[in-house]
Amino acid sequence: MRVLSRNGHEPGGGVEYVTGDLLKDEGVEAAVDGAETVLHLAGGPRGDDEATRNLVRAASRAGVRHLVYISVIGADRVPLGYFRSKLGAERAVAGSGLPWTTLRAAQFHDLVLDVVRRMAKLPVIPVPGGLRFQPVDAREVAARLVELTLGEPSGPVPALAGPKVYGMAELSGGYLRARGGHRLMVPVRIPGRAGRAYRTGENLSLEGAVVGLRTWEDFLAERVARDR
Ligand SMILES: NC(=O)c1ccc[n+]([C@@H]2O[C@H](COP(=O)([O-])OP(=O)(O)OC[C@H]3O[C@@H](n4cnc5c(N)ncnc54)[C@H](OP(=O)(O)O)[C@@H]3O)[C@@H](O)[C@H]2O)c1
Repeated sequence: MRVLSRNGHEPGGGVEYVTGDLLKDEGVEAAVDGAETVLHLAGGPRGDDEATRNLVRAASRAGVRHLVYISVIGADRVPLGYFRSKLGAERAVAGSGLPWTTLRAAQFHDLVLDVVRRMAKLPVIPVPGGLRFQPVDAREVAARLVELTLGEPSGPVPALAGPKVYGMAELSGGYLRARGGHRLMVPVRIPGRAGRAYRTGENLSLEGAVVGLRTWEDFLAERVARDR
């Protein structure tokens, strides 16, 4: 197995590394050279569309037989730069001419934890009204991606979300209970089109998604206990 990373790593455990950068289009050809299957997990707050176009170009030249991509639920509905770039990346994969599979996932528990942790540092926690998440366990997403990567190219597969939908007050409240502590919460309103999209649940997948098993509470019990 070969991994493309922006940082140098020593080989080990059957893994060799290629140093490169998808956005700068550096090292990508060397990374995909001779590869039959590419699992594209690289991502950042911006530029995933361009990075993916660079990968697709190199993968096409290398004759890759299966390109697997992770996108996000709401890529086609939430009017924010990150979601737009994920949609652009999805389109690059689907239009690549390569056999492909794309899985859309909900926000990982780890990402939500990062957000509620930062908020809990404030004396008063802002709670954007109507903002809901369906957080999913990253390990369940990883297991599903392995299954898809070892399987046949399947195009767009059902999204993967967590087992429950939570408002921000529940997510922050769960964190504070697990950690021990109390904060005042104040409702705030997210303005504009993005706010409307969130209030109507465009980042959620309430029908047709595959639903993971681990809840936010399960994750907190494990993670917050570990970090104590
Ligand atoms: N987190 C979520 O809630 C969530 C939800 C749905 C979908 N996703 C998608 O799942 C994927 C992984 O997300 P994550 O949260 O696990 O991200 P992450 O922890 O930030 O990891 C992404 C990795 O991508 C690599 N990367 C970033 N920019 C790169 C570039 N220009 N060239 C090459 N490699 C680059 C980095 O590896 P190196 O540092 O080794 O270069 C980085 O560790 C992303 O595509 C993300 O959009 C995430």
